[in-house]
Amino acid sequence: MTGTDEMTGTGVPALSAENLVVEFPAGRGRKVHAVSGVSLEVHPGQTLGVLGESGCGKSTVGRSLMQLPPPDSGTVRLGGVRLTGLAREELRRARARIQIIMQDPVSALNPRRRVEDLVWEGPSIWGSAADAGDKDARIDRALRDVGLEPAAVRDRRPHELSGGQCQRVCIARALMLDPEVLICDEAVSSLDVSVQAQILNLLETMKRQRGLSMVFIAHDVSVVKSISDRVMVMYLGKTCEVLPSDEMQHRAVHPYTRLLLASLPEAQLGTAATRADAYEAPAAELPSPLNPPSGCRFRTRCPLATERCAVEEPALRRLGPGHRVACHHVEARRDHP
Ligand SMILES: Nc1ncnc2c1ncn2[C@@H]1O[C@H](COP(=O)(O)OP(=O)(O)OP(=O)(O)O)[C@@H](O)[C@H]1O
Ligand code: SF4
Ligand SMILES: [Mg+2]
Repeated sequence: MTGTDEMTGTGVPALSAENLVVEFPAGRGRKVHAVSGVSLEVHPGQTLGVLGESGCGKSTVGRSLMQLPPPDSGTVRLGGVRLTGLAREELRRARARIQIIMQDPVSALNPRRRVEDLVWEGPSIWGSAADAGDKDARIDRALRDVGLEPAAVRDRRPHELSGGQCQRVCIARALMLDPEVLICDEAVSSLDVSVQAQILNLLETMKRQRGLSMVFIAHDVSVVKSISDRVMVMYLGKTCEVLPSDEMQHRAVHPYTRLLLASLPEAQLGTAATRADAYEAPAAELPSPLNPPSGCRFRTRCPLATERCAVEEPALRRLGPGHRVACHHVEARRDHP
């Protein structure tokens, strides 16, 4: 997936990656094929959702975008600047422009530090001496922006806060450096449903106010759909389908995307007709990233698989505006406008 996506039409992507490959050694000469040639683009002010079941490589993609660690091969560009291959000091400075929020907010925060120190950590590392002048006012503003009352939380330590409050502190910390891109890796998955909704609203507000671009990684279809402009569906280290999130239920054609949609309750899916033609999951053993299936990696679970799928890997091809799919045997749906 290269070049500007026709759905947005303009300019340099805020973040792009081409052909990312990440493999982990697994002993006795074997390796985990965690991410195998993933490309993506995030347009300014937009959110790309990354969806897929546990172990498909979502977090590895997120970390390699941050160069933590860099991918084994492939290119990452932040606003047109190539991050892969940057010298250590240049990379350290560039990292301030791309921040990540992780799944477990409590363990993401140093338990010994107070909220005000946690929030100020970024400027204390990356900021200039001038930053220190309005330190207190900036910490208070950052805390208020994420819905926390400074007087009540500044002196507290993470274990004295709720999970939702800790995630708000993580967001305040990440935004303190005014990043261009925010990567959220299962940022709401560990929170209660009502707190999830509050944090999702907060992220939406921050994105709108600051023109942030986001990569929102999660395994929950409805959460990803609700916050993303476009969704990239991954399976076993590969991209299956990329499409606008509001067209997912009507236009998704990849058998794996259809399988994910079939897991949604009917009310979230939209129409009964859509549900009726969603795929049912065939019972099959999950393949291993140590030894992924030949050809199409989804073939061992796919109801449409043919012999061709075992020998030929499907390329990610364009089906329509903003819509790409990696499958030999599906075409764009004609039954919906
Ligand atoms: N540091 C590592 N060393 C070895 N294998 C790893 C390492 N990190 C990830 N993996 C493996 O790489 C694959 C992708 O892992 P990753 O954490 O990216 O998946 P994920 O989609 O984020 O899963 P989850 O939804 O459970 O968070 C998995 O098979 C995982 O076991
Ligand atoms: S390429 Fe073949 S196995 Fe893969 S999703 Fe398409 S039909 Fe299924
Ligand atoms: Mg993960």
